[in-house]
Amino acid sequence: MEVLRVTGGQRLTGEVSVPGAKNSVLKLMAATLLAPGVSTITNVPGILDVEIMAELLRRLGCGVEHRSDEATLRIDVPERPDHRADYDLVRRMRASICVLGPLVARVGAADVALPGGDNIGSRGLDMHVDGLRRMGAEVTSEHGYLLASARNRLTSAETWLDFPSVGATETILMAAVLADGTSVIDNAAREPEIVDICRMLQGMGAQIDGVGTSTLRIEGVDELHPVEHATVPDRIVAGTWAVAAAITGGDVTVHGAQADHLSIALEKLATAGASVESLPDGFRVRMDRRPAAVDIVTLPYPGFPTDLQPQFIALNSVAEGAALVTENLFEARFRFVQELARLGADVRTDGHHALVRGRSMLSGAPVEATDIRAGAGLVLAGLIAEGTTTVYGVGHIDRGYAGLVPALQSLGADIERGTATDV
Ligand code: UD1
Repeated sequence: MEVLRVTGGQRLTGEVSVPGAKNSVLKLMAATLLAPGVSTITNVPGILDVEIMAELLRRLGCGVEHRSDEATLRIDVPERPDHRADYDLVRRMRASICVLGPLVARVGAADVALPGGDNIGSRGLDMHVDGLRRMGAEVTSEHGYLLASARNRLTSAETWLDFPSVGATETILMAAVLADGTSVIDNAAREPEIVDICRMLQGMGAQIDGVGTSTLRIEGVDELHPVEHATVPDRIVAGTWAVAAAITGGDVTVHGAQADHLSIALEKLATAGASVESLPDGFRVRMDRRPAAVDIVTLPYPGFPTDLQPQFIALNSVAEGAALVTENLFEARFRFVQELARLGADVRTDGHHALVRGRSMLSGAPVEATDIRAGAGLVLAGLIAEGTTTVYGVGHIDRGYAGLVPALQSLGADIERGTATDV
């Protein structure tokens, strides 16, 4: 079993580069299904989830060539892709659900295994399902699969989302681009990853108005064509580096990032006492004092991203003062707090609030990453904890952070990958 062993106390200094966004590239890969022929995606991150999505596309009949040295994917989509996404892949990556919209639109059918814990109509997929039904698809659930079909071409529809869900916006958008007529998605998500997929779809010939706003107007076209598209930089990885600089009292320049995608998070770091400088291709974060505690409220973009919440809890756990962190998207995210407590952090949760009282010191201990961002938060805490922190559940971290260990080492961190028995 692989683990990361972090010995705290080093100030991080130097430069890092950010790859393309995990939360965008997986959807861009699914979007290629909308047009037969060879599409190329560049700025592809070297993460496990990309491999899982590549395998899923291969099983749908696509040829997928991943040149990881060039961060490029070449996807050859057949005239008639298959339409089944099996449980063995979906259980490894919930984002597999993003093939639903393009498959129904393109081949009139999609059988996608339900990600664990979800049921048709339950929180999690209800808005995806409702959006497709409004466009004329029939959607049922049987034997753990979501079965969607449309005998004829999908028809346009107006959808008002109860909540600006990223996934539901993407599913409905990818179905609407090939539907008959003009569809409207109101209260749509506005994340940079949504803008990214809209740009790619426009490059394929889709007609989309209101990109980057909460009302998307999509005029369906008869067919789309293949495209070459560069993935938007990963703002969550960039934000993780920013916190790494601040928590260690370091000085880190992050290249290949868009500071304007992280406005609130960088502003919070400035409030915590960091000096933040925007650069043409990223930003620089410097910290020369113990951070001050900062309150956080997670919200859909442009609010504070839930995917940076654990990293900021880690920062607050060693800050001066107390902070209130409110999680409005995923309550389960607070599970990571119990692991952080093993390092001595003082965090109390109540529903979707966490009160973090900063301590002057954490102490290294074995901890378990329960998801990608929890893993990032624990590594950050390990960087500042006294002694050695052993992080289990490395597979989660590998899903979102390509080359994390060498990059941290290059900044001066004392971290290595090992097996549970040799640490
Ligand atoms: C995506 C990101 C994830 C990020 C999240 C919010 C990917 C692969 N993952 O997840 O990292 O944390 O956006 O920025 O891109 N919901 C419903 N019904 C639905 C859809 C969603 O109730 O039909 C609820 C969810 O249970 C959750 C909330 O809406 O509580 C947010 O979900 P959503 O914005 O859809 O996130 P994801 O697309 O799953």
